[in-house]
Amino acid sequence: MRWGGLLLSLSFALYLSCQPSEKGPPPLHYVGDEVCQKCHPNIVRAYAVTWKAHSLLPVTPSLKRIENFSQPAVYDPHSGFYYRAVWEGDSLFLYEYRLSGRDTTYLRRERLDFVIGSGHQTRSYLIWRNGFLYEAPLTWYVLPQKWDLSPGYADGKNSRFSREIQPSCLACHASGWEAVPWTYNRYHKVGGAIGCEACHGPGSRHVENPHDTAYHWSRWSPLRQMDVCSRCHLEGIAVEKRTGWKPGDTLSAFWAIFLPERAELGRFGIASHAERLLRSACYQKGGVTCSTCHNPHPREAVPSYDSRCMSCHTKGCSDLSHPTRDCAACHMPKGESSDIPHTRFTDHYIRVVKSQSPSAPLHRPLLVCATEMAPDSALVGEAYLKWYNEENTAPWVLEEALRILSRHGRPFSRAKAYLLSQKPKEALPWAERALSQDTTLQTLELYGYLLEMSGLLEKALSVWETLKHRAPAYPEARFRWVLLAYQLGKLTPAQAYEALRGLTQEQPWNAQFQYNAAVFAGMLGRLPVAKSHLQAALSYEPDYKPAQEALRRLQ
Ligand code: HEC
Ligand code: HEC
Ligand code: HEC
Ligand code: HEC
Ligand code: HEC
Ligand code: HEC
Ligand code: HEC
Repeated sequence: MRWGGLLLSLSFALYLSCQPSEKGPPPLHYVGDEVCQKCHPNIVRAYAVTWKAHSLLPVTPSLKRIENFSQPAVYDPHSGFYYRAVWEGDSLFLYEYRLSGRDTTYLRRERLDFVIGSGHQTRSYLIWRNGFLYEAPLTWYVLPQKWDLSPGYADGKNSRFSREIQPSCLACHASGWEAVPWTYNRYHKVGGAIGCEACHGPGSRHVENPHDTAYHWSRWSPLRQMDVCSRCHLEGIAVEKRTGWKPGDTLSAFWAIFLPERAELGRFGIASHAERLLRSACYQKGGVTCSTCHNPHPREAVPSYDSRCMSCHTKGCSDLSHPTRDCAACHMPKGESSDIPHTRFTDHYIRVVKSQSPSAPLHRPLLVCATEMAPDSALVGEAYLKWYNEENTAPWVLEEALRILSRHGRPFSRAKAYLLSQKPKEALPWAERALSQDTTLQTLELYGYLLEMSGLLEKALSVWETLKHRAPAYPEARFRWVLLAYQLGKLTPAQAYEALRGLTQEQPWNAQFQYNAAVFAGMLGRLPVAKSHLQAALSYEPDYKPAQEALRRLQ
């Protein structure tokens, strides 16, 4: 059912605020790397060779081609789709198709607009249409040198072209993006690779007064320095406490980041460098930070990690039978990342690695907070809710979220936990309380759905009406408004059709919009128009049942 899917897809949008900070005039803002270049040309040049400087780039003919485009297409046995990326002139296209014998029975072609990932581990692609940003289903895996479905798309979970790229994703991978307010994945500008200010913070004041000491990395404590790296390299379930973190701020005042306990210490995930390092004696007793070993704009071409180890372990390895070089090979082994297939990462838990037989995964791993010792219960509850929503759909995770949130949760997360647990009656008063605290797209949308589920249709209509004005760039809200307004007799079929036609122009790929437009066109007796909407729906979603059936009835 459409509803279940929709409700589950309501998610917390996490914003790493690009807005100027509120305290103290003049407000800080980001100025962009071109400005830094004027006075720090050597550093800008050194930085240009790093992975970060290639973390997100527009697809252009000059893009460094790391992929092998002549490999055979990738086949997804669960959906029957083939995928292949092809350069045509200056553009890169993704073909999705089905075959019956040698005949192509279905074909969809989408231009790929951005590449995400420098190409050292994996390279994925983004599609930017009418401002909406989505991840493409095909990824290049560097180590095995092969194409495959994007991480998380295998095993029957191929979400094709519908996975939204929300600001939380760009906050770790890009700079200079501008999100359209009151939407989830719509942007005025997608921007480019991670820049200087991702680590040094907004530069406006420094540019006016270079001697402003607040801008000096060395003035921050080792923990504040690590917080900068952890903001992106501590991968976990991140619950935002308040918006507006910037480099130099205490991370834990803004975010609580949770990780599931793991049975085997040997397994580690893609962005877990900070979490692993914090376990190490070199950090706990030696105060090692990320920049002890990594210079983000290095002066040397190949960093000598051994010399870093030897700066503290002056006598080298205690096991004297071992060579005195390549310390990391034994003490920081590389292994397969547990969350992304076909990639290898360096384990930053520095230790004497003892071989251990792999233990069975924990039956019900608890979430552990990596950023503070005793997080507020409301945050713990939100972490379980987010975990359930995004990754671990085991029923006990939702039960745990509801158990905690029903006693301690912030109103919005309480309402959401009740809603996901199919208890709209309990959820409604909490959604009202959340709205009295702040009016956002998320709270209004949640409230609208809850009112519909509770049969309070007139009230729900006024919520969709409000969103129609406040979130004009968010088509889903207008869609709900049209359907409900028609149902309550406030729109004629002709008016409903006009509104839906507008939506199909904004998001032609949205099969529900196309199908509903067809339904109203059918009511108006405009059968060829209805037919063309249904055909459009199926050209994007060949398996969309309502459109298939309606088209069969029309023919
Ligand atoms: C108008 C010239 C100018 C521009 C533009 C400029 N800087 Fe600087 N920057 C300087 C000077 C001069 C210093 C040395 C100040 C000092 O040592 O007191 C400095 C120092 C720094 C430091 C501190 C070094 C330390 O000792 O810790 C950082 C970090 C830095 N700049 C980064 C940036 C970044 C990032 C940008 C772009 C957002 C930028 N700068 C733009 C002139 C500039
Ligand atoms: C804005 C998010 C962000 C911040 C802040 C950040 N990183 Fe990264 N870092 C990334 C991403 C994303 C990549 C992978 C880029 C790629 O390969 O596409 C990366 C790559 C790296 C690499 C791989 C080698 C290379 O040349 O880039 C190292 C090492 C690294 N980061 C260390 C650090 C350290 C140390 C800090 C703190 C001083 C830090 N990072 C801060 C996001 C970040
Ligand atoms: C909390 C920060 C964070 C978020 C959110 C995040 N990533 Fe990453 N991602 C990283 C870091 C850090 C790395 C680099 C890991 C490394 O090189 O060790 C990475 C690596 C990658 C890579 C491989 C880059 C390479 O080395 O070639 C891709 C592709 C990628 N991420 C895509 C995404 C997409 C798409 C999203 C959003 C749906 C996303 N990431 C969300 C932090 C993040
Ligand atoms: C991944 C985080 C990161 C990024 C991105 C980054 N820096 Fe730095 N920067 C650092 C760290 C860490 C130090 C301190 C290095 C040290 O302690 O040796 C530093 C030091 C500096 C310094 C003073 C020391 C020196 O080496 O002269 C300047 C100036 C500077 N950065 C400018 C820039 C500019 C300009 C850019 C963009 C091209 C940039 N940084 C991008 C983390 C970063
Ligand atoms: C004691 C030294 C040391 C410290 C401290 C350290 N690293 Fe590393 N890091 C390494 C080594 C060694 C490699 C592997 C480099 C290679 O294979 O070329 C590496 C690789 C990486 C990579 C590349 C991807 C991968 O997993 O191989 C990233 C990203 C990274 N480190 C991030 C960080 C962050 C973030 C911190 C701080 C939380 C940090 N490192 C602290 C030594 C260190
Ligand atoms: C800033 C100093 C510093 C640096 C740099 C450093 N360490 Fe350490 N390391 C320490 C301290 C302090 C201890 C704890 C020693 C003790 O307990 O007696 C330690 C402990 C260790 C241990 C024993 C761990 C355990 O659990 O008993 C190993 C192995 C080790 N370091 C290897 C390395 C390697 C390899 C590197 C380079 C990649 C490195 N260290 C870099 C300070 C450092
Ligand atoms: C071939 C693998 C290997 C290499 C290379 C290696 N080590 Fe070790 N290291 C070991 C093993 C195994 C032990 C445990 C020895 C024991 O307990 O008898 C050890 C022990 C240590 C310890 C002491 C840990 C403790 O129990 O207190 C330190 C510190 C250390 N190594 C640092 C280094 C440094 C620094 C380098 C590089 C110069 C290095 N190691 C290179 C395998 C290696």
